[in-house]
Amino acid sequence: MIASKAKSLSGVAAVPGDKSISHRSVLLGGLASGTTRISGLLEGEDVLNSLKASRMLGAIAGKEGDDWIIQGTGNGLLLEPEEAIDFGNSGTGCRLYMGLAGSYDFPVTFAGDASLSKRPMGRIVDPLKLMGTQLLDSREGCRLPITLCGPRVTAPIEYRVPMPSAQVKSAVLLAGLNAPGITTVVEPVMTRDHSEKMLAGFGAAIEVETKTDGTRFIRLEGQGNLAGQDIQVPSDPSSAAFPIVAALIVEGSDVTLPNILMNPTRTGLVTTLLEMGANIDISNERESGGERIADLRIRSSQLKGVTVPGERSASMIDEYPVLAVAAAFAGGETLMEDVGELRVKESDRLAAVGAGLKANGVSCEEGKDWLKVTGTPGGKGLGGAGSGNIAPVATHLDHRIAMSFLVMGLGAEKPVQIDDASPIATSFPEFTALMRELGAVLEPSNG
Ligand code: S3P
Repeated sequence: MIASKAKSLSGVAAVPGDKSISHRSVLLGGLASGTTRISGLLEGEDVLNSLKASRMLGAIAGKEGDDWIIQGTGNGLLLEPEEAIDFGNSGTGCRLYMGLAGSYDFPVTFAGDASLSKRPMGRIVDPLKLMGTQLLDSREGCRLPITLCGPRVTAPIEYRVPMPSAQVKSAVLLAGLNAPGITTVVEPVMTRDHSEKMLAGFGAAIEVETKTDGTRFIRLEGQGNLAGQDIQVPSDPSSAAFPIVAALIVEGSDVTLPNILMNPTRTGLVTTLLEMGANIDISNERESGGERIADLRIRSSQLKGVTVPGERSASMIDEYPVLAVAAAFAGGETLMEDVGELRVKESDRLAAVGAGLKANGVSCEEGKDWLKVTGTPGGKGLGGAGSGNIAPVATHLDHRIAMSFLVMGLGAEKPVQIDDASPIATSFPEFTALMRELGAVLEPSNG
């Protein structure tokens, strides 16, 4: 797909449902007794794979109008799946369901696509082993496909999460649902807290204590009853990031995005863009289904480079690729500190972003766990990947790399081509239509 300089972007756009909340609502709906009704579920490939996983573990799920209705098995009552569960591209789906089903005393095989099969799973298998789970099979380096088998009785543990990861935290808590007694997750750096909130909403006995140094102790009592819930999924701030940055870098733009999730563990990008001088109005802040949401109005802005502190990385971990694109249009340097986790996402995002920026004439420097981008206000001279003798941007099966560089092409002087737009469907199937509706110029590269 090729993105070319847009005249301006304007209008109101409905960003699809939050991916993290969608995965968790499908997973907990499939586990709880009774009926869970979900409105606004993200119907991206990743979440559809989670729905399939819940069905394979015994849940019944179907649509009623726009809502999804799930009848769960009841906590402790998942069924043994008949075949391997394939999570496609989804690290969140795979890791959360490993925690959920890996504590049951039957074998479950977890599989994924080429990208997911390269990603480290030891971070999930290690705590599960402490809870009694056996690793029956895996590829070298604890890579998928992996077969787990839980013990007869799962051991509740206290586990200190070694890297800032909501997936690891959630996997341990979900395994703890099947253990007698109290499972404690110690989280030194706070990550997105949707699992804690939603577990409480489904009736789990869970409490969170935050120490003065910010360390969180999350205690969950296992083997309790979970009851089906009504859930409204707010719009995904990580998907909103693409039209937000596009509106900022395309001159004359004025875009409104209603109902965006504003949970403080997810707003690091908006904070950073405001520091860079972005014109973003946050209005109508309210609560919906236990989460804070707001409407955002974004107008084109001349950005300036900033240093993004490492402490903020967990609250914007998925937004660095598109922040790097914003930084390419900002005056001066933007330094992103302590972002080593980006190397184990759907792709090595530091390498993929660095290569993509360079192919489009942006000066950037990449370290083991940092990235520095020097911007060109107005995007003069930027772009050009996919023309002349420059290869298109390599997206490495990574939806966020694909969308970030298409956004770049909307603001750059020269068009930007990416090698594969298909991964976009994992998290934001409506991306192309929504962006075109706002005025984006996106065309398939074969004409
Ligand atoms: C997610 C957690 C993050 C994030 C991912 C979604 C979640 O991963 O990158 O897109 O829903 O729990 P880590 O837990 O690896 O940081």
